Amino acid sequence: MHPASHTAKGPLPAHVGIIMDGNGRWAQQRNQRRSQGHLEGLKTAKRIVQAAGGLGIAYLTLYVFSTENWKRTAGEVGFIMGLVKQYLAAEMDFFRKSRIRIRHAGDPAGLPREIAGEIQRVCEDTQDFTGLQVILALNYGGRDAIIRAIRRLIAQGPQEGPLTETEFRRCLDNPDIPDPDLIIRTAGEWRTSNFLLWEGAYAEYYVSDKLWPDWTAEDLREALARYQTRERRYGGAGT
Ligand code: FPP
Repeated sequence: MHPASHTAKGPLPAHVGIIMDGNGRWAQQRNQRRSQGHLEGLKTAKRIVQAAGGLGIAYLTLYVFSTENWKRTAGEVGFIMGLVKQYLAAEMDFFRKSRIRIRHAGDPAGLPREIAGEIQRVCEDTQDFTGLQVILALNYGGRDAIIRAIRRLIAQGPQEGPLTETEFRRCLDNPDIPDPDLIIRTAGEWRTSNFLLWEGAYAEYYVSDKLWPDWTAEDLREALARYQTRERRYGGAGT
């Protein structure tokens, strides 16, 4: 019997973050170009967005492109940016039908102008949708997000009293979105890779050995089921 079946089921996570890893290895295993892996990775992202909405997840953050990913070849960077553009344009009907709201996390200033413009447009067009919120982490780095928050704080001028965590949190990207409850990483790597450093302080982690292009709705259900068996103590002693 699965150990999970012995324990009472906890609540579903409201916010799930995913570090989508393994596109390159998926392609390599098939003697294909890395771009083919990203193409398959995009298909997986579509599957998982659909599944997350159906399962009642409120927020899904997808780590699409980090502040460190610019180190890849211009060809690969261009290909991923092209996929983002294609995704946003091709899925608009789906977002509308499923009431999916698209958000952005990361620094828009560092993105190619047309990509930043496209994201802004889709964020605006979907801002009143009340279904699943999909946050695309694009040109996103946890350290960069913290630095940008500090810059916002400085720009606000001197504050009264010592800075609190709550006040600082309000300066990060998307302050209204709750901290992630669960962070999933695929392709068997045990690293945070600069993802949601501040917000993920008490996130539960789930590492899947499967490569991202091979991920299915069933894998998401399994990750959620495992999460539901965890006891979250937030540094306390527990029950
Ligand atoms: C990690 O695999 C994947 C990326 C850096 C790119 C993620 C992009 C997508 C899944 C497509 C776009 C998705 C959306 C939602 C627009 P890797 O290349 O680091 O794999 P490797 O570690 O095996 O080389």
